Amino acid sequence: MNWLDICALEDINPLGARIVAGPAGAIAVFRTSDDQVFALDDRCPHKGGPLSQGIVYGRLVACPLHNWQISLESGDAVAPDNGCAHRHDAKVENGRVLLSLNLQTAHP
Ligand code: FES
Repeated sequence: MNWLDICALEDINPLGARIVAGPAGAIAVFRTSDDQVFALDDRCPHKGGPLSQGIVYGRLVACPLHNWQISLESGDAVAPDNGCAHRHDAKVENGRVLLSLNLQTAHP
């Protein structure tokens, strides 16, 4: 995998997100309460709401527009809603946040 160093973990607020410009649009990189990081395209699978402005809790983010809940791990919307946000790989190493772009369609 090709990992990109995007920022320090402290640059992302706990339960917040940072936006990174990707080749296919903005990517939201989220930080959970236990300092894990997850990356999804900053586009809700419902109507394109900015997931980076949503509220993170557990391994989910709630879209700020209509409150769909999206899994940070898979990008899937929690039932009864149905859809998937494109995800990328992200991890923390030595206090740095690393991102690996997933340029394939995650869910064909
Ligand atoms: S755009 Fe995200 S829930 Fe509607």
